[in-house]
Formats: sequence, structure tokens, C-alpha cells
Amino acid sequence: MLNWDDPLATTGTAGPTSKGRLAVDSTDQSDDWTAAPETEASVPFRTRSDPERPAQVRPGEGLVSNTDLMATAGAAPVVDPNPFPASELHQAELAIADTLLPPETSETWQAARHPDDDPTGGATGLETLEMGAGRVRVDDKKIINCRADLNQLVPFKYEWAWQKYLDACANHWMPQEINMNADIALWKDPKGLTEDERTIIKRNLGFFSTADSLVANNLVLAVYRHISNPECRQYLLRQAFEEALHTHAYQYVVESLGLDEGEIFNMYREVPSVARKAEWALPYTRYLADPHFKTGTAENDRRLLRELVAFYVIFEGIFFYVGFVQVLSMGRRNKMTGTAEQFQYILRDESMHMNFGIDVINQIKIENPHLWSPEFKQELVTMIREAVSMESQYAHDTMPRGVLGLNAPMFEEYLQFIANRRCAQIGLPEQYPGATNPFPWMSEVLDLKKEKNFFETRVTEYQTGGALNWD
Ligand SMILES: [Fe+2]
Ligand SMILES: [Fe+2]
Repeated sequence: MLNWDDPLATTGTAGPTSKGRLAVDSTDQSDDWTAAPETEASVPFRTRSDPERPAQVRPGEGLVSNTDLMATAGAAPVVDPNPFPASELHQAELAIADTLLPPETSETWQAARHPDDDPTGGATGLETLEMGAGRVRVDDKKIINCRADLNQLVPFKYEWAWQKYLDACANHWMPQEINMNADIALWKDPKGLTEDERTIIKRNLGFFSTADSLVANNLVLAVYRHISNPECRQYLLRQAFEEALHTHAYQYVVESLGLDEGEIFNMYREVPSVARKAEWALPYTRYLADPHFKTGTAENDRRLLRELVAFYVIFEGIFFYVGFVQVLSMGRRNKMTGTAEQFQYILRDESMHMNFGIDVINQIKIENPHLWSPEFKQELVTMIREAVSMESQYAHDTMPRGVLGLNAPMFEEYLQFIANRRCAQIGLPEQYPGATNPFPWMSEVLDLKKEKNFFETRVTEYQTGGALNWD
């Protein structure tokens, strides 16, 4: 049975199907979300967007304009990605290698790791209490390898981390708040969708349903222990819950549409294009999850940094975006709008996750400048280029023929465009000169000229729990 509860039912106010929820007709071309590419059949697409109304993004009200969505997205990265003088950037040394660097072998790492009694690494928060120990001062705090008590949240050192935690909590949503009835009807209609469109939905559910579990497991079992700062850990705990919500959302769509859950949840082990990205990411997290792994040496600190780039910048910042564009494109055409709305809220969360990870990476660089060597930057550049190539292949595999006005070459250009941005955000040189965004309707989410302004907007309208105000 579907778990569809009207979140407004007990308030006596309008429910998601009431009049006025879809406020603006698609004739309003001021919002790129409502403007379909010229090459596509023009199908009216309605979103909530009203310039008279402050941003109020609530699940269950239908697709939301990018402007409103990103106005509630929380804080942008704030840590300087280029903290070192220009003379130290070694840009000239970042020529792109044609071949990938060989992955480090397990034996290499085994030789470098520390035995249990090695004093390197930071506190975990589970140390024996030391009665009467000196109080924690702001200057004692560090992102990694900190030895100050991790059970004391304050005094804050990294206000950006606390702010992101607050913003994330203010953006709380639940998958079952979104009505899936239109999707169910469309999916069951033999003429409702083309086979290519059904493939896009199923492949992306297959990828994301397990990818978000992988991200959550990476956070809880690998990353958390090595981030030795309480305010950052507070955000990590919130992020871990959001990843659970995302997996919940995919399960909810699978259940709503009556899909074969075995087929969907096993795709990452059965469909090569889905498997490839998880296979790429797993080795990075495995090192950190080993209970004997400790930070505290340059090699192992770089290993942590490399892993943060792999998951925050590449997995969540590049590998998710072909799927986001594909599913949101369907929503733009009034197809699978409940699923698209689920993806919208997930996209908002993921933008925040990525921004948090970028701040953590840049803060580690500031506190440990010796880690950011030319060789290490070259390695990260190689990883990002490899990721762009893999995600381009995913676009080919999920849509071998053009569909929804999209085609694989457009995605290649798009991935190069966002990869340039990701590089700039962590202080690496852009890799694809002149790459442009072929999906301007996604621009407010990913393009990044506007990103900072949108992200700087503080969440004031969308509140949860006791502060909930449904008008
Ligand atoms: Fe997620
Ligand atoms: Fe995430």
C-alpha cells in the first residue's frame, strides 16, 4: 500500500491537489525552468514560481522553479579555494597526463599505514574522560588530526559548518509528502511513456538507489571518524540522515510505480553502466574504513583528501548530474512529475553536500598546505577528467538515442562545463576551456554564476516541526 499521507490534512488548509498550488503558467518565460528548448515539442510545463511571493519551497506542492529551489538551498562554499600565493600555485606543472595514474596498490597502503599503537591521527570522541583537563579553546580545533575533546560542540571555529547544518535542518522534507498519483497513472498507461523514457527512469532509480547508500556508508563508516571537528561532524550526521531520505525516496518511487525492486536495486551489480561508477568510488572509501587506518602522515592525510574529492566533488558533484538532468527534463514536460519533484529536493540536498565537502577540502588545505603539492593536484585533475569521461559514457549508455530533446554529446559538453566549476571550487585549473552549459534551464542550479548569490540567501521561509507555518 502506498504511504501517501497529505501532510496538510490535519491543518484544515489546502492540500497538494488544491487550487493555486501551481501558481504560474508556462507562458511565463522569465523563469528558465518553464522554457523548453526550441528543438522540443512545446508541452506546457507548470512550476511554482511567483515573483510576488517569497521563496517557499514545500514538498508535495509540485515542481518548483529553480529560483525558489535555490533560494532555500543554504550556504555556498565560503572557504578560500586558493589560499596560497600565486607563486605557489604551480599551474604550469599541471599539464594533463594522457594516461591515468596507476592506482595505489593495497600493498603500498599496508606498508604506509600505522599500527594500532601509533600516536598519529586525531581524537575520535571516545577517549577516556580526563577530569579537570583544560577547556577547549577555538584555537585548539582543527578539521583533521585534532586532539581536543570532540564531544564539545562549542566554541565554534568553523561557522560555515554550523550554518550549513542549520540550513539543512530548515530544508527538511520527506518523500511521502510528494503525491505520486500522476506518475502511477502515467506509468501504467501503455502509451504514457516511450520505452526510452522508461529506461531513463529505471536506470536512474537503479543508479541512485544504491549510490546514495554507498555515500551514506562512506560517511558513517569511513569519513566521520577522520574528521576531528564537532561542528563538521554535526553536519555529517545531518547529511547521513539525508542520504537515508534519498534512498527512501527512490524506494518510494519504486514501490509507487510497482517496479521490480530486485531489478532496480541489483542494477549496480548487473548493468555495467550503473556498476561502473560505484566500482570507481569503492576503493577510495575502503582505505578509510579500515579500522587500522589513521591520518597524521602526509601520505594518509592525502589519502583522506583524495577520498573527499572522490565522493564530494566527483561522486556527488559529477556522477549525479546526468541523472538529475534526465529526470528533471521529464518533469519539465509534465511527465513523471512526482518523481521529478523527489529529484528536485534531492538535488537541493546534494548541492549542499557538495558545498560542504568543498569547504572541508579547502579548509584542510589551509591548515595543511604541504599536502597540496603539484603532484597531488595533478592526480586530482586526472581523477576529475576520468570522471567526466565515465559520466559521459553513462549518458551514452542510458540514452543511446536522443530523447526528451537531449542527446549524449550535449551531456559531454555539460559535464565539461560543471567539471570546470568543480575544479575552480577546489583551486585547480579549469580543464575544458570554453565549455558552455547546453541546459540553461538547469543554470540556476549548476551554473554557477548565480550559485553564490542564491546560496547566500538564508533560509527563513521554510521551517519544520513546531515552527511550521502553512499560511
Ligand atoms: Fe544523496
Ligand atoms: Fe549527498
